[in-house]
Amino acid sequence: MGKIILTGDRPTGRLHIGHYVGSLRRRVELQNSGKFDEIYIMIADAQALTDNADNPEKVRENIIEVALDYLSAGLDPGKSHLFIQSQISELTELDFFYQNLVTVQRLQRNPTVKAEIQMRGFSDSDDNRTGTPVGFFCYPISQAADITAFKATTVPVGEDQEPMIEQTREIVRKFNSTYGPVLVEPEIMLPDNSACMRLPGTDGKAKMSKSLGNCIYLSDSAEEVARKVKGMFTDPGHLQVSDPGKVEGNTVFTYLDAFCRPEHFDKFGDCFVGRKASFEFHSLDEVKEQYRKGGLGDVMIKNFLTAVLNDTLEPIRARRHELEKDIPYVYAVLKEGTEAARKAASQTLAEVKAAMKINYFDKGVLDELIRKQSEKFSQAGQ
Ligand code: TRP
Repeated sequence: MGKIILTGDRPTGRLHIGHYVGSLRRRVELQNSGKFDEIYIMIADAQALTDNADNPEKVRENIIEVALDYLSAGLDPGKSHLFIQSQISELTELDFFYQNLVTVQRLQRNPTVKAEIQMRGFSDSDDNRTGTPVGFFCYPISQAADITAFKATTVPVGEDQEPMIEQTREIVRKFNSTYGPVLVEPEIMLPDNSACMRLPGTDGKAKMSKSLGNCIYLSDSAEEVARKVKGMFTDPGHLQVSDPGKVEGNTVFTYLDAFCRPEHFDKFGDCFVGRKASFEFHSLDEVKEQYRKGGLGDVMIKNFLTAVLNDTLEPIRARRHELEKDIPYVYAVLKEGTEAARKAASQTLAEVKAAMKINYFDKGVLDELIRKQSEKFSQAGQ
């Protein structure tokens, strides 16, 4: 059996550096590792509509933004199929059949859905302007359809998606034990360092999110990155440069944990040369040690972080600017990726329907049905 990746994002905004360290960077590495037979990267517009039903324009706008972010971050349409979820109707068919394999109670216990309902402030009321849309409540089932349609073995996602993968695995086991072994149980692939698990916002809040205005976007200019880093929260107890500082829970250090590489100390060492004090660091551990002791100011650390971030983001920005000049190409990539994805999904759907014995008109099946049913009625008539 081959190794297959399926993953994706909701197109509700441009992608930020939380997406990048949480999953996008990993996808590009996996894509280039040559270890996977097929890679499907999905723009989950139908899932985005589950809580944006009245805002289709926003979803449509962001499809191209996310596609630009994907391509500029290094996803290569020669190696990965980039596709649009809503254009694969097979996914909704699978979703419909899987709905019978999941209980309402199980969905109600899903921690991610629970947290997201709370975050969006959906009420308990049956008022259709404030209550929870059914489609939103059920999206873990639709996500199981997304994953299983491609027989994905590997789903590289952030930690918040863990309950979705668990739900998918349960559906696969239930399906296979009920109807026969058709579906593949996927494995989650989490980021490999804890800072990347969930990058906090620039304000230190647990999650980077557009509505909180605490994101650094992949497409931000170098100046915007510098400005946002300047405004970041550090250790509130670190008032004087000479005071000892805290590294744990200090967002600037969390970002450095996620982005800093050994070569950055050679490249950007002059960030630590100042009028009053200068340092020569060779590793992030040395920086942290000095910060804990005191004497290392937030301004120096922030200048270093800005340089480190821009070092990663600069090539991504440059590619984005090129791609923005060729929007027809970006749509052509999505169209081609969508056609490839549909082929794979329709193969799985055919197997699913056969296993469920709802493939009445398939070749050979109809003849057999006619023969059996005719026999039954002719016997009954005798
Ligand atoms: N839920 C994911 C997100 O919010 C998007 C998504 C939809 C997805 N279907 C998926 C991710 C299947 C992985 C696999 O970003």
